[in-house]
Amino acid sequence: MDSAVKLMIPGPVEVDARVLAALNRPVEPHYGDAWVEKYSRVVAILKQIFGIAETDYDVYLMAGSGTCAIDACMGSSLLSGEKIIVGNNGFFGDRLVDIAGNTGLQVIEVKSEWGQPLDPQAIKVALQQHPDAKAVAVVHGETSTSILNPIAEIGAVVKSAEAVFIVDAVSSLGGLPYDLAGWHVDLCASATQKCLGAPPGLAPVAISPKAWRMIDRSNRKAHGWYTNLQNWRKYAQEWGDWHPTPITMPTNTVNALLVSLEILIQEGIANRMERFRSLALQLRNGLREAGMEPFTPDELMNPVLTAARPPKGVESVQVVRYLLDTHHIQISGGLGHLKKEVFRIGHMSPVLKPEDIENLVCALKAF
Ligand SMILES: Cc1ncc(COP(=O)(O)O)c(C=O)c1O
Repeated sequence: MDSAVKLMIPGPVEVDARVLAALNRPVEPHYGDAWVEKYSRVVAILKQIFGIAETDYDVYLMAGSGTCAIDACMGSSLLSGEKIIVGNNGFFGDRLVDIAGNTGLQVIEVKSEWGQPLDPQAIKVALQQHPDAKAVAVVHGETSTSILNPIAEIGAVVKSAEAVFIVDAVSSLGGLPYDLAGWHVDLCASATQKCLGAPPGLAPVAISPKAWRMIDRSNRKAHGWYTNLQNWRKYAQEWGDWHPTPITMPTNTVNALLVSLEILIQEGIANRMERFRSLALQLRNGLREAGMEPFTPDELMNPVLTAARPPKGVESVQVVRYLLDTHHIQISGGLGHLKKEVFRIGHMSPVLKPEDIENLVCALKAF
């Protein structure tokens, strides 16, 4: 890709030059004392970001994209034929339904309109109607519409059920404050190429004690070896002092992630989140000045991603193409049935500055 293009899609994101430099170091093994220390540091910082530093949750860093971690969460905890309730209000909710289907699960869908948050009461009713459901799965930041689903409220509903609560945090972890334990999330899957400001290729997953009980109740699950979380735990526990993962890790990518996590800790998690919020507000104001309305109201603002409608009579692809061709700024079009109706701007890169938003807004005003 032309390096002069400013990447403002909802991931992968532009990364800090220090993160890129870490990729360029000599390849090192995924075991040994130095590696164990490095991997432990990554896991410790991820626990802070998940909001589970002082808890009994486990965190593993899987090699793969976010979908790999979602596969691991569903496939490790449920048996083929069991019920899962999936909250669905967008393209990635559809994806959860698909993954559950491919895992051989019986899916009970609880839908909301695209652009509307999921309704915790509807999830509660679904749990009452299906007390044998073994999991509830939802997307936190629905990247197709920018909607943030009410995870804490849904968690409060799932908490007292037998079901575990699975959350897709692929596009939100690192972008807003997280409190997995307080939200009663049992399995949380994310990825490094979005708000964590690192290259693609790694997928953090967090697992609660309740999730382990669900996972450990049977070994008959119809899933593979790579995405079996019991294997990740086995290596962490039995080989943790020299070779903490069951597979060969992409060590350069982990090095890059560690640099991005250290930068985040240095900035301060709260400061980073505030910076994202402020960029989001700046962008929303600018969009309105440019005559392009954000797809969601300000009360439902996503601090790391904004979807907006093009001017009347214009298809979103025209705005996307114009920005790329004329201003070398890359944003994304809509997904699913919103393909032509919205464009999406990712502002989840840690290196994004107010000047970048300003440039984008100026370009949009000139459309
Ligand atoms: C909310 C959400 N879930 C899942 C995915 C899929 O993640 P990956 O491409 O890392 O597998 C994405 C990717 O954009 C996403 O935004």
